[in-house]
Amino acid sequence: MAEAQQPLFERVDGVAFFERLVDAFYKGVMTDPVLAPLYEADDLEGARHRLSLFLAQYWGGPSTYNEERGHPRLRMRHSPYSISTVERDRWLVHMIAAIDAEQTERRLGDEDHEAMLAYFVMAADHMINSGGLSMRGDGTTTLDAG
Ligand code: HEM
Repeated sequence: MAEAQQPLFERVDGVAFFERLVDAFYKGVMTDPVLAPLYEADDLEGARHRLSLFLAQYWGGPSTYNEERGHPRLRMRHSPYSISTVERDRWLVHMIAAIDAEQTERRLGDEDHEAMLAYFVMAADHMINSGGLSMRGDGTTTLDAG
């Protein structure tokens, strides 16, 4: 298989890479006054497990996430949480710190780091469900105070 077609999962040290990433991410999240209250303090292990399996699957690893949780439907799964640009930015700060650390340690190549960065920015933006402009059925916009 040509290198360009090889999934990122094959270039990093597999599941261990995603576990390390998510571990560092949640360490940051738990010190964050905006984000920490959103997470169930007694199910952090579960949250780590779900996010690392999801990311491993997304980047070409085993489909264990889907087997355990079904289709990701991430926007729907995030609907219980009010996510505005504030939460998005805090989420990205911790995830970017985690991928930067892997790049610094040379466990993530520069191009793969770029690809992950672009993906996380796009995906986190997609999770915003509050505080922005929402479209009405008639095509006009309204400020969502949620
Ligand atoms: C934008 C800000 C975000 C906030 C505030 C946020 C917050 C949360 C919270 C509070 C949970 C529940 C923790 C759990 O019990 O699993 C969760 C779950 C999850 N989040 Fe996020 N999230 C954000 C963005 C993202 C992004 C960008 C991704 C993917 C790239 C993501 C992937 C997931 C996954 C896979 C789960 C577990 C879903 C499940 O199977 O139940 N989140 N998130």
